[in-house]
Amino acid sequence: MLTAILRCRRISFVGLTLLCFLSCSKSGTDNPGNPCEGITIAVNGTVTNTGGPGSATGSITATASGSSGFTFSLNNGPFQASGTFSNLVAGAYTIRAKNGDGCMGSGSFTVADGDPCAGKTITVTADIGSSEKCGKTGTITVTASGSTGFMYRLNASGTYQAANTFTQLEADNYTIYAKDAAGCETTKQVTVPAVANGPLFTAVVTLINSKCSGCHTGSNPTSGISFAADCAIVEKKNNIKTQAVDLGTMPKGGPALGASDKKIITDWIAAGGRASD
Ligand code: HEC
Repeated sequence: MLTAILRCRRISFVGLTLLCFLSCSKSGTDNPGNPCEGITIAVNGTVTNTGGPGSATGSITATASGSSGFTFSLNNGPFQASGTFSNLVAGAYTIRAKNGDGCMGSGSFTVADGDPCAGKTITVTADIGSSEKCGKTGTITVTASGSTGFMYRLNASGTYQAANTFTQLEADNYTIYAKDAAGCETTKQVTVPAVANGPLFTAVVTLINSKCSGCHTGSNPTSGISFAADCAIVEKKNNIKTQAVDLGTMPKGGPALGASDKKIITDWIAAGGRASD
């Protein structure tokens, strides 16, 4: 350690002999009595934090190598036998390790904020309004509890919104997502049911099954026009009325529908022409 010797001499020239002695005895190779000579103490460790932001739940478990008989100090605090320091808030820490001769090493550690979702139980409930079978009239109103600052979306493809109500939903299965201000997310599976078929529509379905089915049902319906699905009847209701009531061109080849059969169709359409009517 040539630099130590030089520094020593220079300091001694200005008269600080004692200071010089201390300085050289700690680091110089020209002091065979120095117990720390040739000893390099390294401090390593593991950091954990299980709590949320701001909580004193972090811990550092430090180990030292390069010598033996270590004691440990956190941020210049008192030395202790254990290398574990607990109940720490997030931040930067220095741990020093000292062996029996007072030789020291140190390591720097950062305790990060813990999982902000730890210890939270977010619960989602939903008020569900059923949908018209062949329309989009369903509603979902979400209530989330267990945290604050909630945002909501429907399905993974949805966009988060602050409003907790979703409207114009068709009858289907949905996944409700709720996340709080920290981004802690919970999901809930729900089903928006379809409103049951109403009596007027049920009568129309029965009529079509008896008078139109040979040509407009099955896997190969006439001209691709199928009335096998309830919603196909709802969608084509005006065309059905035109052909079977107003023009009398359907059933094709006749006979035309009688007055009571026509009334079944017109009554239904007059009531709204929905599956629920
Ligand atoms: C014997 C077979 C047959 C029966 C029964 C039949 N259809 Fe048709 N339907 C057809 C054919 C064929 C077409 C294709 C257009 C055409 O040839 O006039 C058609 C077309 C239609 C169309 C579409 C018309 C257009 O131009 O957009 C409607 C609506 C329709 N049918 C309603 C009905 C209804 C309602 C009934 C029962 C009350 C019925 N059909 C019974 C054969 C039939």
